[in-house]
Amino acid sequence: MFTIGILASGKGSNLKAIVDYIKKEKLPVKTGIVLSDKPGSPSLAIAEKEGIAYQCIPEEKYETFLSPATEKEYVKVLRSHDVDLVCLAGFMRVLKKNFIQSFSGKIVNIHPSLLPAFPGLAAWEQALNYGVRFTGCTTHFVEYGVDTGPIILQAVVPVLREDTPETLHKRIQEKEHFVYPLTVRLISEGRISISGRKVYIIS
Ligand code: GRF
Repeated sequence: MFTIGILASGKGSNLKAIVDYIKKEKLPVKTGIVLSDKPGSPSLAIAEKEGIAYQCIPEEKYETFLSPATEKEYVKVLRSHDVDLVCLAGFMRVLKKNFIQSFSGKIVNIHPSLLPAFPGLAAWEQALNYGVRFTGCTTHFVEYGVDTGPIILQAVVPVLREDTPETLHKRIQEKEHFVYPLTVRLISEGRISISGRKVYIIS
């Protein structure tokens, strides 16, 4: 069965959305393993509740990426669960070359803006401060740059006059919970092809 591994540092709402969608749609997709770098991450509790294998692999040395040894450990665990696709769902570390090469073309991420606008942290706040009328979310393949890989799906969210960073992020997340499960579905069904930077959806 097509198997995904989910990496999450935070509250895990995207993880939950993916798991719920797989169940609801009875997709032939298995969530093989949930990995987190944060021992207290609610994503681990979600995995436990859902009966999904999970593990915390912390990183002691670095804040924003994984040491080569820790990356190796992630790759080893993902491989031991026969993962076909690695889904980054709020994993707050930049993956380096060895990890990316180990799952070449098989790592996806979700970002809370309409990339290439507002890469990096707190993208909803960047959008608000910039004064754009629309923002949204993007799923994309992961390559060496931060939030730069080929774009798979996007959804648009209008920015309202009364928005705060919190209200805007909440509405973006509602879209994320639709877009990320759909992305996983399309990839698992072999309906995504890439040519250069362009991603095509096969209907
Ligand atoms: C999402 O906003 C996602 O776009 C970003 O990190 C956040 C994760 O949220 N990469 P959650 O932990 O899935 O709720």
